Amino acid sequence: SSSNQPYRTAYHFQPPKNWINDPNGPMRYKGLYHLFYQYNPKGSVWGNIVWAHSVSKDLVNWIPLDAAIFPSQPSDINGCWSGSATMLPGGKPVILYTGIDPNNHQVQNLAFPKNLSDPFLREWIKSPKNPLMAPTVANKINSTSFRDPTTAWKGKDGYWRVLIGNKVNSVGRAVLYKSKDFVNWVEAKQPLHSAQGTGMWECPDFFPVLNNGPINVGLDTSVDGDHVRHVLKVSLDDKKHDYYLIGTYDASQDVFTPDNSQPVLRYDYGKYYASKTIFDDGKNRRVLFGWVNESSSQNDDIKKGWSGIHTIPRSIWLHKSGKQLIQWPVQEIENLRVNPVNWPTRLLKGGELLQVNGITAVQADVEISFQVREFQKAEVLKNWADPQILCGMKGAGVKGGIGPFGLLVLASKDLQESTAVFFRIFRYQNKNLVLMCSDQSRSSLNKENDMTPFGTFVDVDPLHENLSLRTLIDHSVVESFGGEGKACITSRVYPTLAINEKAQLYAFNNGTSSVRITRLSAWSMKKANINGN
Ligand code: FRU
Repeated sequence: SSSNQPYRTAYHFQPPKNWINDPNGPMRYKGLYHLFYQYNPKGSVWGNIVWAHSVSKDLVNWIPLDAAIFPSQPSDINGCWSGSATMLPGGKPVILYTGIDPNNHQVQNLAFPKNLSDPFLREWIKSPKNPLMAPTVANKINSTSFRDPTTAWKGKDGYWRVLIGNKVNSVGRAVLYKSKDFVNWVEAKQPLHSAQGTGMWECPDFFPVLNNGPINVGLDTSVDGDHVRHVLKVSLDDKKHDYYLIGTYDASQDVFTPDNSQPVLRYDYGKYYASKTIFDDGKNRRVLFGWVNESSSQNDDIKKGWSGIHTIPRSIWLHKSGKQLIQWPVQEIENLRVNPVNWPTRLLKGGELLQVNGITAVQADVEISFQVREFQKAEVLKNWADPQILCGMKGAGVKGGIGPFGLLVLASKDLQESTAVFFRIFRYQNKNLVLMCSDQSRSSLNKENDMTPFGTFVDVDPLHENLSLRTLIDHSVVESFGGEGKACITSRVYPTLAINEKAQLYAFNNGTSSVRITRLSAWSMKKANINGN
């Protein structure tokens, strides 16, 4: 129950118990969404990995099924690691995944449904030809750095293409394989892309996005043409963050040329890893799934009997600037909203703290917008600084010029505990620079938790636009979207006082300048039906 499990989430994806990591092989089949995930059936730390399986009609409520892919043949006897689904012509799904073989080598395997008339796709058969791709003396591929096949895409030449994450020394690589029949795969002469000093590329993802298209519209993975740009996402093992590059895919040469040479943009500036997208042909959008690890100690994970959740699936598309992606929680999550609280426009003076009453603050969805005034009061930033470090130095308690202003979530009555999600505006090189922070440093009296603050700059000019923040609060997870999805920060927190009905929510301004709240809408969130919970 929630009294002895205050950190279990009410509307985020998790199994009833044990360890989970990466989302695997998401797909939509016969109107149902399928999600598989890396799962340890035996405990709450990583190990014994199988593909657990759930299905959903709405990406919010999930029905648990038996594990779909588990060690059963030499090519996966030591583990069934991450992979992706591809829809073959005629609507036949197949899965490529990494198996760990008897020598602990990473190899790529194929599985397909036993019975295509079962919308639940309960049973999966493995190809007798597995493994289909393997490290050999000839290809010189490192057998411990060769994993996580992407969804495949088909070129105009009729060949399927798939990427496998890899590294050579410290060069991260997306190795490309091609096949006519999905069974016989040949390594291309060069990787689709690689970058010096980036380490192992886990869970690559490669997909087209509409250039200058309407918001929230996605493309099927094989779509290409002049109206399209491509995104390569890699999960950097060394940094434990998901980075993406926007660029041009030359299908005739099979090379990807990113606009930036090094990965700098992140999907999420908090805790977020091993994500992957699918094209959702039901709603014509691209949907992003991702894993959020715990920030508690392994001992605490063992005590509570579980570890890991997934974020709310996000719609993802290219911003009209062409410079970054936008992410927004899928609209279906709004079906859980109840008991709306709306504030009339009001001034939030420097030093003011206002409680948001009338909602279940431990399980809520909050949208707040600010109009900034008095730009002459902005703190001057002389030298460029890492935004996360800035958030660490200038937490919610450090008074500023314009800001910090934002939300205090999962706050205890006396504010001994709270997580602050906020903005601070700097004057940098004669422009307004917006910093967004998620400050966990006071989130819990239990100092065993990792309470590192997170931060990023947001590409919004508060002179011309309001500054918006949406935060999804769910017991131990705080998922925040700044600038209408331009910047995402997900954090895990474990309050000891601000649990269940004791949690409170505030709007605050700890700057000297007042700001105007142009919108505050908050909802309590109903519990979703997630895997029998
Ligand atoms: C990423 C990852 C993948 C691997 C899987 C193993 O979190 O390390 O590279 O396939 O998890 O569980």
